[in-house]
Formats: sequence, structure tokens, C-alpha cells
Amino acid sequence: MAKKRVVVLGSTGSIGTQTLDVVRRHADKLEVVALAVGARADELLAQARAFGVRHLAVGREEVAGLPVADDLRAQAHGGEGEGSLAFGPEGVAALAHLPEADVVVNALVGAAGLRASFEALSAGKVLALANKESLVVGGDLIMPLAARVDEQRRARGMAPKTGPAGALMPIDSEHGAIYQCLLGEDEREVSRLWVTASGGPFRGRKRSELEGITPAQALAHPTWNMGAKISIDSSTLMNKGLEVIEAHHLFAMPYDKIEVVVQPQSAIHSMVEYSDGSVKAHLGTTDMRIPIQFALSYPERWSAPVAPLDFRTLGSLEFAAPDTETFRCLALAREAGRTGGTLPCVMNAANEVAVAAFLAEEGTYLGIAACVEAVMEAHAAEGVQQVESLGQLEEVDAWARAKARAWVKAR
Ligand SMILES: NC(=O)c1ccc[n+]([C@@H]2O[C@H](COP(=O)([O-])OP(=O)(O)OC[C@H]3O[C@@H](n4cnc5c(N)ncnc54)[C@H](OP(=O)(O)O)[C@@H]3O)[C@@H](O)[C@H]2O)c1
Repeated sequence: MAKKRVVVLGSTGSIGTQTLDVVRRHADKLEVVALAVGARADELLAQARAFGVRHLAVGREEVAGLPVADDLRAQAHGGEGEGSLAFGPEGVAALAHLPEADVVVNALVGAAGLRASFEALSAGKVLALANKESLVVGGDLIMPLAARVDEQRRARGMAPKTGPAGALMPIDSEHGAIYQCLLGEDEREVSRLWVTASGGPFRGRKRSELEGITPAQALAHPTWNMGAKISIDSSTLMNKGLEVIEAHHLFAMPYDKIEVVVQPQSAIHSMVEYSDGSVKAHLGTTDMRIPIQFALSYPERWSAPVAPLDFRTLGSLEFAAPDTETFRCLALAREAGRTGGTLPCVMNAANEVAVAAFLAEEGTYLGIAACVEAVMEAHAAEGVQQVESLGQLEEVDAWARAKARAWVKAR
């Protein structure tokens, strides 16, 4: 069978490097054809050389003036066949519709990833999506595009005989788990999705115990090793809020059928409950290469990238309700999701600004939820709009960022 040709956007990050590791392990089935990063051009160059990649992009335009840019040009334009090198956000998003690509892994961080998701599906590619913010902000635009690519894949005989056609493959472990629990089932029989949460490093603490939390404390996630932004989101439970909205879009599930349950061992990656009371759970080693590989191998299964769970040494599995009084971001995200329209876009943008301020020690930990709430209220007062276009979302996103920055500065 022909190799799947893969674009990796965000190749130097936590998901990006693990994606490259999966490609390395399955080099007979996968080939990298393009790579994009934000600023770490030296690492990009090393990856491009190691995987023989000639289509490259760097998000930060100023990198074009650095000495490493000459080496990147030589890598892109040297040798046989065509290559390309671009600097700036358009260049990154343009890789998503590269003619020689089959699959785009979107491992960018934040709403900056929405355009690439949009471009990938518009060009009829399979989108392997880690960038959950794409769906939180633009799910109303992305899901109809994914349905169109699913139809194209069925019409061209590219879809499996049963099950989803595979245009939009979630990489988030929870959504990958739900995707697998739904295989072979009638979705009308689903009574609830159970999205599991580790609870983050501050599980069990009360609000007063979260004052003065430092970035180093919040970055120390108990079970997953991830990029900085998602680590902070996990600690505030905003990550779970984003995932609830992501699940709503991906599985066309109303919010009252999406529950969150804390499962501190992170062994159960999520569950689906059916009308007859049966519950299917997906368990696995806490290693993102498993869901990344499934997103790339579907409808096949390939040999495991890591040692599977050994149930004899797993010990106990605990469950608890999330504390949304203390971790208000989860409740705020649910509210944004239920309201819908442009409110999730505003919520997400305010969160990105508040998290960046906290990491830069310009804002406080408890200020994250407070900032998100204040900016959501301001938007609700002005009037939440229906989502109509990418341009509209970019404008709303910019408005919310400006409001959030002003809020942080005023504190
Ligand atoms: N990490 C996980 O375990 C995990 C699990 C589930 C879902 N996710 C989701 O996956 C996404 C990526 O997370 P991560 O943890 O891998 O993040 P990360 O480690 O911070 O990596 C982000 C990647 O995106 C690149 N990037 C950042 N801004 C960019 C821009 N403007 N243009 C082009 N590239 C840019 C970075 O490049 P530089 O290195 O050059 O800055 C880096 O390659 C997030 O949406 C996250 O929520 C992550």
C-alpha cells in the first residue's frame, strides 16, 4: 500500500515530536512531506534533514533574517524535486493544502491553529487534530467541512466499509478514546459521553489554597508531559472545558449528555454509556503516541508504539466529580459552549491571554478564570453572534485579546 504522506504543523512541540516518533517507527507506512514550527528553526532544520523534508514553514517572520534561514533555504531548494520555504502564519497554513499531502497533523497551539484546520479540510485532506482550539473556536465551520471530506472519501472508495470515513481524526486522548468506543455502535443509542480528567496538580485543593501559585507549580502535571499552555489549562480544568466543547462538535452530542469525571490515574481515557446501561471504556498507557498513531493508522491498527498497560501493576482506579467551584474555568467553558456562537471564541482568546500573562508572571493564577469571566461578560453584553466566517472569528478573537490584555494590565 502507498505510504500516507503527512504534514506536521507544530513539529517541534510535544505532539509534533511524538508524531515524528510514530513516523520513525512506521516508516514503511508513513512519510513526512512538510514541517512547520513557530520559531525554533534550528530544530526544524534538524528534523527536515533527518526526515528528508523539503516543504518548510516558520510562523515567526523575523526568523527569515537569521543565519539559519540560509540553511533552511538550502534544505528546501537543494536536491531533486520542488521544495518550499515560507515565513509567517500564511506560509504555515498554506502547507495544509500542499498537493502531495494526504494527512495534516495540526499540533499548533491555540486559536492560531484554526486557519490550518480550515485549509486542510477545504483542500480535502484528512485532518489529524491535536489543536482542540480549532474546534472550540471554529467547530461550526470545521464540522461541515469535515462532513464534506467524509462524503468525498466515501465517493472515491477511500473510506472503510463500516464506521466513520475518517476525515477528522482526533488526537486528544479523550476524543480518540470516545471515537474508538463508538466504533461499531449506533450513535442514537448513546446516552452519555464520560470525558475523564486527571484533575491536574491541584486536585483536592480549595480556592484559598490556589493563591500565589507559581508557573513552575502549575506546569508540573501529575500524569502527562505536555506543552506549557495545555499544562496550565489542565491545572485550571480549562483543558477539560475545551474538551467538552470539542466533544460536542466532534460527536454531535448535546452538552447535557457530556459528563466530566476525575480519574486521577489517567488510565481510562474516556467512556461512552449506552441506552441499555452498558459502558465502554478506552484504557491505555498514558502516552500520546497511542492516540497519535491511531489517528494516522485508522481504519487499521499498527504495532504498539509503547508498552501496553499491565493491569496486574495498575493498582486501583479512582473516580470523583470535578470541583467546579474551585476550578471555575470548567464551568465557564461549559457556559460558553452552551451559549455557542462567538462566545467560545471569546472565552478561548481571553484564556490564551491570561495563561500567557500568568506564565510571564504578569498575571496571577486565580486571575485566569477571573479574566475569562470578565471578557465573556463583556461580549455577552455586546451581543453574541452566530459563527459565519473565519474572518469574523479572527475579528472577534482580536477584540477578546485586547479586552483580556486590558483586564490583566488593570490588575
Ligand atoms: N501535549 C499533549 O500531550 C497534548 C495532548 C492533547 C492535545 N494537545 C493539544 O495539541 C496542541 C499542541 O500542544 P503541545 O503540547 O504539543 O504544544 P507545544 O509543545 O507548545 O508545541 C507547539 C508547537 O507549535 C509550534 N507553534 C507555536 N506557535 C506557532 C505559530 N504561530 N506558527 C507555527 N507554529 C507554531 C511550536 O513551534 P516552536 O517550537 O518553534 O515554538 C511547536 O512546534 C494544543 O492544541 C494542545 O492543546 C496536546
